Amino acid sequence: MPENKENKQEQAFITWNEQYDGGLAIMDEQHRKIVDVINELYRAVFALKVDGTAEEKEKEKAEGIKKSIRAAVEYVKVHFSTEETIMRKLDYPRYPEHKTRHEDFARRVLQDVMRFESGDRRVGMQLVAFLRDWLLEHIAVADKDLALYAKNKGLK
Ligand SMILES: [Fe+2]
Repeated sequence: MPENKENKQEQAFITWNEQYDGGLAIMDEQHRKIVDVINELYRAVFALKVDGTAEEKEKEKAEGIKKSIRAAVEYVKVHFSTEETIMRKLDYPRYPEHKTRHEDFARRVLQDVMRFESGDRRVGMQLVAFLRDWLLEHIAVADKDLALYAKNKGLK
């Protein structure tokens, strides 16, 4: 883990590990993109600005975080919908529980977004850590199971 803010700007928060690959091209590609959007949010949370008054810096930073949160949320939505389409198409038996997990995740993130927008600035860091932990676990377990099932059904 990086030690100071400058390092945090330079280093990626999450580095893709091939072990995260489930072997289904579309899902793996989207999971890599999710890691990118989370890294982007992380950079926004630790953005350093040299110019301007404290108030201006604060405002600019909040705008950057807001933009990154929106981009992450939008992309995750696209990704969930891709997975859900695959699950329905293949009659995946664990579709209901997988979809429920997506919905619980979306609800939790929405709550955080509302907290952030109402001025709670701690949300940025909490959210970025939550996204990393939740998604990496989800990719490693639930999505891997789906990828395996889909591959057995002949999807590549
Ligand atoms: Fe999933």
